[in-house]
Amino acid sequence: MPVTVVVGAQWGDEGKAKVIDLLSKEHTFVVRYQGGHNAGHTVVVDGEKYALQLIPSGVLYEHVIPVIANGVVVDLPTLFAEVDMLEKRGVSCSELKVSSRAHLIFPWHQAHDAIAEAMRGDDKIGTTLKGIGPAYADKARRVGIRAGDVIDPERFATLVRERATAENKLITEAGGDPLDVDEMVERFSELGERLAPFVCDTISLLHNGLDRGAHVLLEGAQATFLDLDHGTYPYVTSSNPTAGGACAGSGLGPRDIDRIVGITKAYTTRVGAGPFPTELLDDDGETLGRVGKEFGTVTGRARRTGWLDCVMLRHAVRLNSLTELALTKLDILDGFEKVKICTAYRRNGQLVDDYPDRSDILAEIEPVYEELDGWGTALSEKREPGQLPDQAREFLDIVEREVGVPIKVVGVGAERDDYLVWTSS
Ligand code: GDP
Ligand code: IMO
Ligand code: MG
Repeated sequence: MPVTVVVGAQWGDEGKAKVIDLLSKEHTFVVRYQGGHNAGHTVVVDGEKYALQLIPSGVLYEHVIPVIANGVVVDLPTLFAEVDMLEKRGVSCSELKVSSRAHLIFPWHQAHDAIAEAMRGDDKIGTTLKGIGPAYADKARRVGIRAGDVIDPERFATLVRERATAENKLITEAGGDPLDVDEMVERFSELGERLAPFVCDTISLLHNGLDRGAHVLLEGAQATFLDLDHGTYPYVTSSNPTAGGACAGSGLGPRDIDRIVGITKAYTTRVGAGPFPTELLDDDGETLGRVGKEFGTVTGRARRTGWLDCVMLRHAVRLNSLTELALTKLDILDGFEKVKICTAYRRNGQLVDDYPDRSDILAEIEPVYEELDGWGTALSEKREPGQLPDQAREFLDIVEREVGVPIKVVGVGAERDDYLVWTSS
């Protein structure tokens, strides 16, 4: 399969990085196609934890060429902090490529993110405050500065100075602190110089690679229900993580893609505000958070938790043309006496057929659950479907039946090898 997309099927943090790490073995290019350093992607290798925000998770393999494609918004201080962290730990980033078309994030984007959140008062989105929304807004307004602009240092410095000066006016008018323009120009000129050798036309790079028979893995950040168009607006991010966004964000065409893997946890989590039909505000929710270590990699915020929602997953199959699912963190359900799976939605006592198109409607949903007995056994050592207890097999069978696509991989622990290849009974 030359081109595979990995996309989050819920609200993020599904364990995409672990599955990407697993699939990277068979791919030459691993490509981030949207989002920025709002992502927190964790891979654990021999007890060593690698938390990545911008560099594709495939970087841990020597044979992989990591690519930051045109759809990503790049924060240079974070990018180079990550390069330094990886190199210090013996992971080479010399093959990293950054698209000349990728837009850059600047401190004024972070200032605008903070001002916009403060202005929303109690109605905050709960963004990561990384400047993601304002950077994509500048791209849409056609005033963004792109990675390719660093190739001419003098022009780059002028662009940064002009934009910083203009943005400073808006920031101070909104009650924010002015940014030090000279300091910013100097700092970003140095960062731009460091970026220049990594910049290239990643679209030609990927197509030429495909022509030579290379395999490409497209790594989604965020997730389907955080998608700007298809998520729970306005409680979304500002890019398109859905599989369609993988084409726009990488320059590959829809017919280049063969396989689209949706990642779901065995339950559901969400960081930040917005509707969440299966959210648990009781002891079970607390247990999921504690046992699942559900704290944001980027912000450290506690993630909200709830039971698995197959209505969401069915919609994710439609939106992304998912060919299969990878289900992670099944081991986190080990200790539960009863486990629930949401199979339908009701609103005002009536079954809801189509996925609600408005967040206020989604907030009124009552989930319909199928309840199963728990398995009361630790799954972390299981490596074959036949080793799973009957109740865990039943759980996976119900998910496949309800969602309508096969589960191919099941995660049973955080380590690289803690998974089993699933085939239903
Ligand atoms: P991503 O943003 O989708 O890549 O996911 P994150 O890395 O933010 O969050 C997933 C967390 O779950 C990470 O800490 C992973 O190490 C961990 N993880 C992934 N798969 C499994 C699994 O099957 N079992 C357990 N216990 N942890 C997992
Ligand atoms: P990964 O790739 C979970 C959420 C934020 C907020 C909303 C908008 O690790 O799955 P933004 O800063 O993007 O404008 O915030 O989106 N969010 C994520 N939640 N995982 C992520 O990434 C997220 N990236 C953004 O919490 O609710
Ligand atoms: Mg994450």
